[in-house]
Amino acid sequence: MSKADLKLERTTDRDVDVPIHIAVVMDGNGRWANRRFMPRPAGHKAGVEAARRVIEACGRRGVKALTLFAFSSENWRRPEEEVSVLLDLFLKTLEREADRLHEHQVRIRLIGERDRLGPRLCRQVERVERLTRDNDGMTLVVAASYGGRWDIAQAVRKLAARVADGTLRPDEIREEDLGECLALADIPPPDLLIRTGGEQRISNFLLWQLAYAELYFTSTLWPDFDADDLDEAIAWYRGRERRFGLTSEQLEQASRA
Ligand code: IPE
Ligand code: IPE
Ligand code: MG
Repeated sequence: MSKADLKLERTTDRDVDVPIHIAVVMDGNGRWANRRFMPRPAGHKAGVEAARRVIEACGRRGVKALTLFAFSSENWRRPEEEVSVLLDLFLKTLEREADRLHEHQVRIRLIGERDRLGPRLCRQVERVERLTRDNDGMTLVVAASYGGRWDIAQAVRKLAARVADGTLRPDEIREEDLGECLALADIPPPDLLIRTGGEQRISNFLLWQLAYAELYFTSTLWPDFDADDLDEAIAWYRGRERRFGLTSEQLEQASRA
């Protein structure tokens, strides 16, 4: 077994102990507010502060990509008022934070069904993506109006169009072809998934891309999550042996080779 074979999910030669890509399900804002007898939007506002802390901490630690789950396909089913608070907060945060992130060379991207976000937010997202496109620091991906099932369905539609126009044969379709049509195709898949708020589920996040992520769950509510909690998650991650289907002996042999 060669070292090249073992790379599998990793595309760079950086220190294997540092996650290249961290994905976060930022959960627990509502409960954080409830516990303080505050309305749910107060929890979402505090959640934005936590996101700011974690973005900065990831940048300092040399994480290459950070994907934050901000709003799921299913979150559209929440009360209209909460949805509008969340979208408004997202718009205002983008307006306020983009320049600072740009100064720090952060490249910002949005994944999700953007048509549903409305023209104002769409325009702002496009502006920020354009502004930060050529930055060479950390990539910050915001998943908004995103669902893993939506992602897979939109990838399948792209492949189906190629089949329909005769440039792809159904029996030629490989996993990589689908992977290339998904969101985040140009970024290595997440090494570490962090979910705050105590639930141990994926909630339709990056279903395909999380195939070999290490899953870290903490009961800390998202607005309370800080750089120390991030370090705890990364320390836990360092203790994992990522086997990608191989045996420990194979991994040892390859690291000696
Ligand atoms: C996560 O916090 C934020 C979004 C889903 C938008 P929640 O709003 O889900 O908070 P809880 O789970 O009700 O505490
Ligand atoms: C997942 O949180 C989505 C985001 C954090 C954006 P939810 O609070 O919506 O997840 P469920 O409904 O409890 O699974
Ligand atoms: Mg929740």
